[in-house]
Amino acid sequence: MKVLITREIPRAGIDLLRKHAELELDYRKGAPLSDSELKKAIKDADAVISVIPDQITREVLQSAKNLKIVSNYAVGYDNIDVKAATEMKIYVSNTPGDLTESVAEHAMALMLTVGRKIVAADRFVREGKYKYWDPMIFLGPVFSGKTLGLVGFGRIGQWFAKLAKGAFNMRILYTDISKNESAEKEFGAIYVSMDELLEQSDIVSLHVPLLPSTKHLITRREIKKMKPAAILINTSRGPIIDEDDLCVALRENWISGAGIDVYEQEPKIYAGLKELKNIVLTPHIGSATHEARIEMARMAAANVIEVLINKKPPISLVK
Ligand code: GLV
Repeated sequence: MKVLITREIPRAGIDLLRKHAELELDYRKGAPLSDSELKKAIKDADAVISVIPDQITREVLQSAKNLKIVSNYAVGYDNIDVKAATEMKIYVSNTPGDLTESVAEHAMALMLTVGRKIVAADRFVREGKYKYWDPMIFLGPVFSGKTLGLVGFGRIGQWFAKLAKGAFNMRILYTDISKNESAEKEFGAIYVSMDELLEQSDIVSLHVPLLPSTKHLITRREIKKMKPAAILINTSRGPIIDEDDLCVALRENWISGAGIDVYEQEPKIYAGLKELKNIVLTPHIGSATHEARIEMARMAAANVIEVLINKKPPISLVK
């Protein structure tokens, strides 16, 4: 049975697959496959381990003759047409829980980096501009005691709450489709409406999946409601924010800054954003820790093995 792995992933996953002589690996290590390369490569695959840039559309699925599982090497699965896969009786799986701490830590890193102007300060030093100590340069906020607003209070949002509470004794506000009373007790988190969260938070961090209902959840209307000194962080999915509106808001200093790891049209970066000084941009590296990526590889491989070898539904089935 053929397993297509569209990109290089940590060895831990490949080693698991290689334990099964029945599995023939088509292991691609180069640049992401184009749509036509993907359609060709998937044609006779029984399983595919896909990564975020792979758009597993209905057409891609239709070109696969033997496909039994799309095992996404990610927690998010907005790159896959799950409805089409389910209709075609192809399982879809993801890797939940393996990157919670890593993404929350990246959100916190962005919060600190934007607030304390680390990127601009680094550039200042490298450019030879550090001639004397200056009491008035690179001033930012203290985070201790400030308010963190979490839009989406799933695993990652809650972990960020835990870090922010533990490290900085921050006040935690959250909004989500439902209240989470145990987390409220644990972190003293307060459930509020989206507008209340935007109006009261010093940092707003996004932790929702990309769904039709969350696309452009943050537009100029929402940014306008934020405090002028507030910071916006996005480590979830790019299209949650209307980048055109974000660009206007940052250019006109409606808020103090933004830390952005994900983009509306990855890997394209909205042109205006790169010109701004009050934004820190990272290339979708929220889960880029050794630990998370190894576990993602293991889980993606285990889902394939569960389907092809054990003839069961994948361990982390997406419906
Ligand atoms: C990363 O963005 C993931 O969804 O795993």
